[in-house]
Order: sequence, then structure tokens, then C-alpha cells
Amino acid sequence: MILAGKLLNAKKAAKIGLVDYVVHPNLLENFAQEQMLKIINDGGKKRRKVYQPKGAVNKLLEGPLKGIVFSKAKQGVLKLTKGHYPAPLAALEIIRKTYGVDPTNKSDREAALEIEKEHFAECAVTDISKNLIHVFYLTEMVKKQTGVSSGVKGKPVKHLGVLGAGTMGGGIAYVAADKGIDVRVKDISLDANAKALKHARDLWGKLVKKKVIDNYQFSQKMSLVSTGLDFAGFKNIDVTVEAIVEDMGIKQKVIGQTAAQMRPDAIIVTNTSSLSVTEMSKGHPHPEYFAGMHFFSPVHKMPLVEVIRGEKSSDETIATVFELAKKMGKMPVVVKDGAGFLVNRLLLPYMGEAFFLLTEGMSVEKVDKAYVYQFGMPMGPFELMDSVGLDVCVKVLNIFKKAFPDRVEVPELMQKLEKNKARLGQKTNLGFYKYDSSGKKLEVDQSIYSELGLPAPTNPYSDQECLERGVFAMVNECALALDADKIVETPHEVDLAMIMGTGFPPFRGGLLKYADSVGADYIRKQLEKYSTERKANRLRPSVKLKERAEKQLKFYN
Ligand SMILES: NC(=O)c1ccc[n+]([C@@H]2O[C@H](COP(=O)([O-])OP(=O)(O)OC[C@H]3O[C@@H](n4cnc5c(N)ncnc54)[C@H](O)[C@@H]3O)[C@@H](O)[C@H]2O)c1
Repeated sequence: MILAGKLLNAKKAAKIGLVDYVVHPNLLENFAQEQMLKIINDGGKKRRKVYQPKGAVNKLLEGPLKGIVFSKAKQGVLKLTKGHYPAPLAALEIIRKTYGVDPTNKSDREAALEIEKEHFAECAVTDISKNLIHVFYLTEMVKKQTGVSSGVKGKPVKHLGVLGAGTMGGGIAYVAADKGIDVRVKDISLDANAKALKHARDLWGKLVKKKVIDNYQFSQKMSLVSTGLDFAGFKNIDVTVEAIVEDMGIKQKVIGQTAAQMRPDAIIVTNTSSLSVTEMSKGHPHPEYFAGMHFFSPVHKMPLVEVIRGEKSSDETIATVFELAKKMGKMPVVVKDGAGFLVNRLLLPYMGEAFFLLTEGMSVEKVDKAYVYQFGMPMGPFELMDSVGLDVCVKVLNIFKKAFPDRVEVPELMQKLEKNKARLGQKTNLGFYKYDSSGKKLEVDQSIYSELGLPAPTNPYSDQECLERGVFAMVNECALALDADKIVETPHEVDLAMIMGTGFPPFRGGLLKYADSVGADYIRKQLEKYSTERKANRLRPSVKLKERAEKQLKFYN
């Protein structure tokens, strides 16, 4: 609990003796009063013993094996944090130094508190601590926001429609129903509908097994999701999320058909990852009731939702969708319509750069390891491409190239990736890596190099170059997205979106906090160096990055 800041549910807390009683919320006040009276009537005596862990753990911590226990615990922390977070190690060290101190002995207790104070002070002044506090404030910022500046309030959403019961539709239906929203899913395939229901049942089933919810709550949640092949029930629906095939013509047509079945003031949002929301809104008879709501996969795990404002989306629509995302337990960020919106626009140059490194002789392992162990990404760019789907990456990168032909380059060899239908990433159990049938990542598939016509990797570049080319490519694009295109309004939104949507290391405070820490001038110099040495036009510093470098302007003032 201490090392991971883990929260316990009430039942578990009672079981391990951390709280005295667990009572139903309706009884809480009366029960608490009765207990207080008992304590007062008892004369305010101490009523709890000092908490002592029972059995084996206790003996191990006091016996000669204490050193081994702490070194194992330290290894466990390092495995999880890759050494990027000093606080859990400091907490472990405090426990090691103070375990077994008798808290009733005043001088021992004070000496122990002194040790805690010293370690706390060491951690509190680090940049890592400041960055994590910054991330905390970013999430608090969203709680207070409404998604619009006009003061217009959103409408409550009690009934949600979902079009398409595939990967995304199924995930969206589960997350909404989990938060008590009544969901109606419509697909054109019975099979897809059945899969969406199974997806929800499996996820709630796991919660029942873990005793997070009971059987009654399980059936209550299940009863909130219904599916169909027609529009039955759509008259009652407040918001419909469209998550069908990524095809502008089909989407526009289906949106028109859906709008005709809903109340005239009901809202439709699209979950498209690459198509223009403004263009798509032409399929809706009242485009002011249309916007984008871009979830990330897997929906039940990824906290970010990009709320995309089409040219005609009304404030009320945006405020409603923003509130809905929060109700679903997500972190919404309002983004202007534009190729790749925000997160994909920044991720694409990063993934593309990894592919260029591969073609220049770097190995998949070396690049991914540098990103995970040195930079702190949850996964490297190749594993990320595998999880997104190699066909999807190529398709979206091509869309991106069409939108920004002057600066986006798609590696020639990358087009090959789309062609081998057996190697589309995690979904086919083969991509840059091999996967077992449960989707668990195994080793790198060494035949990837010969399949792409590449010689065996020689790893000619340093980790520093691999990291800087990918990360600075994102900063370079971000300077344009923020300063020129105003895709979002502030650096805060960029950092929140990158942390919540891609797992950008929180201890770095987000992409732009990190950029500020190294400085725009350094980033510009390095990009100039790499673009010249590697003959890579795409890495030339953008106008907006140069401006920041010349004026020594930070992203955060
Ligand atoms: N998969 C991702 O990682 C991801 C992430 C973000 C956004 N998206 C976007 O979400 C959308 C759906 O993607 P997906 O991965 O869930 O696709 P999917 O192929 O898993 O599911 C699409 C579903 O839509 C159904 N469908 C097709 N036409 C329909 C119609 N007229 N009415 C109702 N249902 C219809 C299909 O039967 C299928 O079940 C796409 O626009 C995609 O770009 C996908």
C-alpha cells in the first residue's frame, strides 16, 4: 500500500484491521454516533492496539532474513518504476530503518519521525516531485472545467446510444453502463452485438471474482446494456456515439439515418480517429448537435477522451459531451478538428521516426528498450505500433501525409507492413513482436528484418539519438499544433492528453514540461543536427519551434 499508493476498498480495509467497522452508507451517521457515545462512556480509553502484521511477514521482518526481504522489495519497486521514481525507494528505506520501533517510546518515535522527515525532504525538492504535482493539478483542472468558456451548461445524459458493437463500441458501452448510464447498442451484425455483451460480461465477471462488485451489482450493470439491429429505443436517447467502420461516406449516411430516429435536440458524436468531424457533420441535419468523442483503445483502460469541436458544434453540445466523458470516468480534453486531432498528430511522427531508425540499422529491441528503460515510456514505439495495428498505423500515417505533404514522410518500407495480413500486430499475434494466443508479448520476431528487405541490425546510433529523434519530432509537431493551428489552447491540455492518452511518463510532467526542461534552443539544435546528418527533411525544426528557440520562450510561461 505504501509503495504503490494503493487504495483499498472498505471491506479489505476492515479485513486487515485498518478501519474498525464497515457499514452501509445509509446507516453510517447513526452507527458513528453510537460508537462515539461508547467511546465517551468508556472514558476515552485507548481502544485499539498498535496494528501488527500477522504471521509470516512479521517474523521475516524481525528475523535474520530481514535484509533479503527488503532487497526483494527493492527489486520489485525497481522492476515497476525502472528507477524513475525515488519516493517508493525512500519509503522502503524508511520502513527498513524504523521497522519495529516502539511508538510508545517517545525518543524512539521521534528518532523515527526524524528519519522520515529527512527522506521526505529529499524527495519533495526533486523535479520529479514537482512534475508529479503538476500532473495532479492538470487532472484537478479538468474536474473544474466545462469544456466551454461561455458558461453554457451541458445537458444530462441518462440514455446513451452506441452505433457499432466492435472493439471501440463494445468498450464504450461497457464503460458507460459501468457508471450507471442506460446503453443501447446497434450493430448490423448479431454476432458483433453478442461479442459486445460478452466483453462487458467478462469484465464485470472479473470484478465479481475479485469481490469488487457482488452478484446483484453484476446483474444490475448487465441490465443496463441492451443490443439490437434496428433503431428501437433511439427516441429516448440523449447522445449516440458512432463507432462503425472508418469510412466517411458510410459514416455520413448512417449519421443521417440515426438523426432521423432521435429527438431533434439529441446529440450524435463520432469516435473517428482520422476523419474530419466538420466534414462528417454534413451528414447530420443539425450540425450544431454533432461533435467528435475520440476514445482510446482499450476503452476501459485508457483515461483520455478527445472532445472534438467541429466548426458548427454548439457550446451546449461540447459541454454535454465533456460532462458525459467525466461521468464515464474519463479525462476529456477539448480539441479543434484537424488531421490526427492532437494525440495521433503527435504520435505519428514519433512512430514514423522509429521506423526510420529501423531502416537505418537499429534493432527493434534496442529502440524499444531505450524508450522504456531510459525515457520511461510504458512501451516502446514498435510495441505501440503492434498494439495499434500495423495496417491502421500505415493508413493513418498516409492520411497525415496528405494533410501535411510538405513535412510528413512515410518510410517507403512501411507501406509493406500493410500488405502481409498475417503480420498486423497484436491482433494477428505477429507484428514486430510475436504474441501468444492470449495476446501476451513474446520476443521480437527476427524475420521482420528480412521480410522488409533489411540486413541484420548493426545498431549504429546511440540511445540518445534514438530518443531525441522520436521525442523531439513530437515537440516539433506540437509547436505547430499549439502555436499555429491552435488545436488546443494551452500546454496544459497537451501534457494531460499525452499522459492520459499515451502514458507519456508522468514523472516528466508531460511532453511540453519535458521540452521546457531541456529548452527549445537545445531541441532546435539537435533537430538541425539530425536533419543534416541523416538527410531527414522531416526533422527540420518547424517555424514555431525556431521562434520559441530564438525568443527563449518556454511553453509554460
Ligand atoms: N480500434 C482502435 O484502436 C480505435 C481507436 C480510436 C478510434 N477508433 C475508431 O472507432 C471506429 C470503430 O473502430 P473499431 O476498431 O471498433 O472497429 P470494428 O471493426 O471493431 O467495429 C466496427 C463495427 O461497426 C459495425 N458496423 C458497420 N457498419 C455499421 C452500421 N451501418 N451500423 C451499425 N454498425 C455497423 C461492424 O459490424 C463492426 O461490428 C472507427 O471509426 C475507428 O477509426 C478505433
